[in-house]
Amino acid sequence: MEYRVRFEPSGREIVVPAGTSLLTAARLADLPVASSCGADGVCARCGLEILEAVESVAGETNRERDIKQRNRIDPRLRLSCRVLVETDLTVTAPYWGRNR
Ligand code: FES
Repeated sequence: MEYRVRFEPSGREIVVPAGTSLLTAARLADLPVASSCGADGVCARCGLEILEAVESVAGETNRERDIKQRNRIDPRLRLSCRVLVETDLTVTAPYWGRNR
């Protein structure tokens, strides 16, 4: 099974196998995502906002919520290394411009 991930505001799209992390999907699309923990879910720098299909994405674990709160991360952002692509998604990052 594969799913489409669309990145706004550029509109870039890629198709990835189910279970790919959102962080990996963004990097496969050549979009920068901050990270300093090697995708271990501890640095809280990889936040992305899910714009479409948010209701179809598994909810935050207590650990993800705690790490976001401790690092004062906008509650709308999900830690992209913790989110697996299990449906078609549209996402964005505050620092992606139209040309990304
Ligand atoms: S890459 Fe560090 S929390 Fe996601």
